[in-house]
Amino acid sequence: MAQKVILSGMRPTGRLHLGNYVGVLANWVKLQNEYRCFFEVADWHVLTTGYEDTSGIGRDGVDVVIDWLAAGIDPEVSVVFVQSDVKEHAELHLLLSMLVSVARLQRNPTIKEQVRDLGLSDQVMYGHLGYPVLQAADILMYRAHAVPVGEDQLPHLEITREIARRFNMLYGEVFPVPEPLLTKFARLPGLDGKRMSKSMGNVILLSDSEEEIAKKVMTAITDPEKIRMGDPGHPEICNIFAYHTRFNPGEVGNLEARCRSGEQGCVDCKKLCASVLSDHLAPIRQKRAEYEADLDQVKVILEDGADRAHDEATKTINMVRRVMKLSR
Ligand code: TRP
Repeated sequence: MAQKVILSGMRPTGRLHLGNYVGVLANWVKLQNEYRCFFEVADWHVLTTGYEDTSGIGRDGVDVVIDWLAAGIDPEVSVVFVQSDVKEHAELHLLLSMLVSVARLQRNPTIKEQVRDLGLSDQVMYGHLGYPVLQAADILMYRAHAVPVGEDQLPHLEITREIARRFNMLYGEVFPVPEPLLTKFARLPGLDGKRMSKSMGNVILLSDSEEEIAKKVMTAITDPEKIRMGDPGHPEICNIFAYHTRFNPGEVGNLEARCRSGEQGCVDCKKLCASVLSDHLAPIRQKRAEYEADLDQVKVILEDGADRAHDEATKTINMVRRVMKLSR
């Protein structure tokens, strides 16, 4: 039987952090052997809110791809490409935009949140409202069966599913209705215990050096009730404990017991955490540096990815034109 297809993407907004890795990227790396994978740098999506200053988009896209490759995305196995290199996305986006109402897009909780957070009120751009339609075009273009994403993307994916059903009903079965694939260990807290996010300044980057990691981990907030050595701690509310759970599974039971009894001091626990994180990220950091030093290689990978994505996109768009009677 033919392998099932996955498509996923990220907006290029610069270097990735440990939260992106744990929430999405590590999952992508695992899925590569089970599915036929397409991984997309969603540069047009950045424009929906970042249309004024577009100067960094190209370089940010390269940075994000370097993080993917360094973390273990294999460009021989998976198709790694940039959205704007495959123009068929624009055509499919236009056609799908006929199948979803403005009211439905306005009800999208992610848009509502952004409108509130960015203070847009009635200033929402036409393209911004269509964000999930562009995303639907990304996914349906590769006739994906599944989409590995974080929980925050579920409202968008629901719109993709509705559009796929609508299209199939009106014109004929072209698109599988894609399922979300959520990561089990989805959320990693930031250094301050809140959600890890670049805008919060609480991140550990995949590209951080050993020294940077050590410095950041030492400043992390732990259990506020554990002030001095000997105080019993509450691992369940400690972000350093969350890091140990994910990256130091062999020792976490022991650390937990020692923290609760008060034997384990936070400084030593942090030192151990920093060294575990640094060891885990060392191979990623090294591979990253190799790609950094050979950007031509990244360019070749993206050209090859664009060709392979384009082949698949051509097949889909031809099917779409045919069932919609747009081809003569
Ligand atoms: N909206 C996604 C994000 O913000 C990026 C994205 C664009 C995407 N196209 C996609 C994710 C298709 C999954 C599938 O991260």
